[in-house]
Amino acid sequence: MKIAIHGLGRMGRLFLRAATARGLVVTAVNEPKGTPETLALGVEFDSVHGRFDRPCRGEAGALWLGDHRLVLTQTTDAAALPWRELGIDLLVECSGKSKHRAALAAHQAHGVAAIVVSNPVPEVPNLVVGCNDGAVDFAREPIVTAASCTTNCLAPVVRVLHDGLGIERGLVTTIHDPTNTQGVVDRADNDPRRARSALLNLIPTSTNSATAVTLIVPELKGRLDSIAVRAPVLNASLTDCSFQMRRATTVDEVNALLRRASEQGPLRGILGYETRPLVSSDFARDPRSGIVDALCTRVVDGQLVKVMAWYDNEWGYVNRMVDLVQRYAAARA
Ligand SMILES: NC(=O)c1ccc[n+]([C@@H]2O[C@H](COP(=O)([O-])OP(=O)(O)OC[C@H]3O[C@@H](n4cnc5c(N)ncnc54)[C@H](OP(=O)(O)O)[C@@H]3O)[C@@H](O)[C@H]2O)c1
Repeated sequence: MKIAIHGLGRMGRLFLRAATARGLVVTAVNEPKGTPETLALGVEFDSVHGRFDRPCRGEAGALWLGDHRLVLTQTTDAAALPWRELGIDLLVECSGKSKHRAALAAHQAHGVAAIVVSNPVPEVPNLVVGCNDGAVDFAREPIVTAASCTTNCLAPVVRVLHDGLGIERGLVTTIHDPTNTQGVVDRADNDPRRARSALLNLIPTSTNSATAVTLIVPELKGRLDSIAVRAPVLNASLTDCSFQMRRATTVDEVNALLRRASEQGPLRGILGYETRPLVSSDFARDPRSGIVDALCTRVVDGQLVKVMAWYDNEWGYVNRMVDLVQRYAAARA
């Protein structure tokens, strides 16, 4: 299966690393910004994730990862992309620009048979590995999205607690690393809070991660909501969930459910369970979608439950994208 990446920013670069580490071969990338040389530097050296395990260099029309040559294009004109000439079967869309299915038609017009998108797209299956990825026939489905990083952290916790105890309603705050949607210092922006320095502030902002979870657990529609606080920490992030349960429970019962789900069944390797007193940097480069911090679990008056889960919003997420690409590869071998 020939793979191309569209957009070589945070997700595109890290997908390239994770895919390479897990044995996938990427044939081509498209990234309008930068020169081949600066893009190669950005792939090899990363402020958060450190140095790539192979030397990278750029030249006109190409990026080299060690002795592997990738075709490099640098266009914003989707009609000019070379996917057909290169025989690309699967596109990993990481530009953040394809918010709707129609935006992906240009890639399909080049003969691309499968697309995995790094942001939610309302008209296509919203897949959280370990929760609902079994619901899709990868031999037939042309486009899927890996939802959002926070949805991947939150959905397994919701699934386990809803199945085990019954969630009545919930409110979630994710304390999230900055992303390239923010500025380093104050700037003009339509969103007055995202206009402020990501280096200096805790910034309340929106996230639709909880409503996206209700696509996976539809019976909770209208009963979950979420907000994000962008924090000046690189990396990892922390999701703080408060749920009102249908019946009384205890810290031990909540933790036992989450621990069991982390050890067996579809969430093994996806949901983690940690009992040591750790901090955010201990979860950087963790490939799991979310890791429950068992020491933070609280229960008030039997039915109000708090659970906290850590996640590397970059590395965990790109590993889920690799999982989905592998599902396509297996279904279409
Ligand atoms: N960062 C995270 O933790 C995270 C986690 C999960 C999902 N996501 C989602 O993944 C998407 C990408 O996020 P990111 O953090 O990787 O953003 P990013 O670092 O800004 O990367 C996006 C890259 O795509 C490029 N691009 C823009 N238009 C393009 C086009 N027409 N063709 C090809 N490349 C184009 C951008 O260039 P310009 O800068 O010139 O626009 C940029 O280099 C977003 O939807 C985001 O919500 C992000």
